[in-house]
Amino acid sequence: MMFCYLNGQILKEEEAKVSIFDIGIMRGFGVYEAMTSFGLNILMWHDHFERFKKTADFVGIDIPETEDKIKKICLELIYKNGFKRSNIKFILTGGRAIEGIFYERNNPTFYILVEEWKTIDQKNYKEGARVGLAENLRQYPEYKTTDYITAVKAYSKTKQSGYLETLYFKENLILEFSTSNVFIVKDGVIITPEKNILKGITRKLAINLAEQNGFRVEVRDITLDEVYKADECFLTSSFKDIVPVVCILEKQIGEGKVGRVSHKMMSLFNDLVYNL
Ligand code: PDD
Repeated sequence: MMFCYLNGQILKEEEAKVSIFDIGIMRGFGVYEAMTSFGLNILMWHDHFERFKKTADFVGIDIPETEDKIKKICLELIYKNGFKRSNIKFILTGGRAIEGIFYERNNPTFYILVEEWKTIDQKNYKEGARVGLAENLRQYPEYKTTDYITAVKAYSKTKQSGYLETLYFKENLILEFSTSNVFIVKDGVIITPEKNILKGITRKLAINLAEQNGFRVEVRDITLDEVYKADECFLTSSFKDIVPVVCILEKQIGEGKVGRVSHKMMSLFNDLVYNL
C-alpha cells in the first residue's frame, strides 16, 4: 500500500482525490518539482525547495506549509512507502478555478508523491543513449511548471525510435533535454548552456563535482554545430543521474562510445550519492 500527501493529510494513494474544478487540471496552472532520495537522504533538498519556492512565487501560489514541515512529510512518506531509492514529486496548483481563470493564491491544491525510483535501461549507462531533437524553447524556461505538453508530445515519437530523451534547441543554440540538462565535452573541457533552461539541481551538482576534480567547466551558449563536433555529450536529471549520450538523431557524437570524461563524471556522481 502506497501513501501520499494531499492538502494536509497523509492518505493511501487510491484515496487521494483532487477536484474536477481544479485550475491545475482545467488550465494547466501549476508548479511541479521533482527530486530523488537515497534511503532517508533527499539529494540536494534545500536547492530543490528553493527552486520550488521560486516557481511558486513566479506563478503566484502560496506554498501552504513551511520547508521544515514539508521535509518531515517527505521523510514520513519515504519511511511508510519503504523504497530504497525514491522519486519525490510535488504538485502545487492554484486550487479551485473561479470565474474561469481566477483563483485564490492562498487556497491551493498541494500534493506529494513518493514513488519507487526505476532505473532506465542499463544499456544507456553502459553504451550511451540515443536521443531525438526538436526546436523548442519552453515558455518559462527558468521555472518548473506543470506544462510539459511539448515533452509529452515528443516522447511518444522518441520512444518509437528508441531515443531516451529529446534535445531542445532554438535558433541554432542547444538548450536542454525534455526532462534533463545537457553537457558537452570538447578537448577535456566540460561545457553546458547558461540561459533559457531550467537550472537543474543535478546540473549544479555535476558542475561542482567536475570543478572539484580539476575539470574546466564553461557555462555558456552552445551551438548545434558544436554538439555534433563535440568529443562527448551527457545529460543530467534527478531521475536519471548522469547518462552519456552518443547519438543525436542517428548522428554520432565523438566516437559514438561512452567517453572518458562522461565515465569519470558518472563514477564521481555514483561515489557521492551512494555514500551519503
Ligand atoms: N525533470 N530540464 C527540464 C525541462 C526538466 O524537467 C528537468 C527535470 C531538468 C533537470 O533538472 P534536475 O536536475 O533538477 O532534475 C532539466 C524532472 C526530473 C522530471 O521531469 O520529472
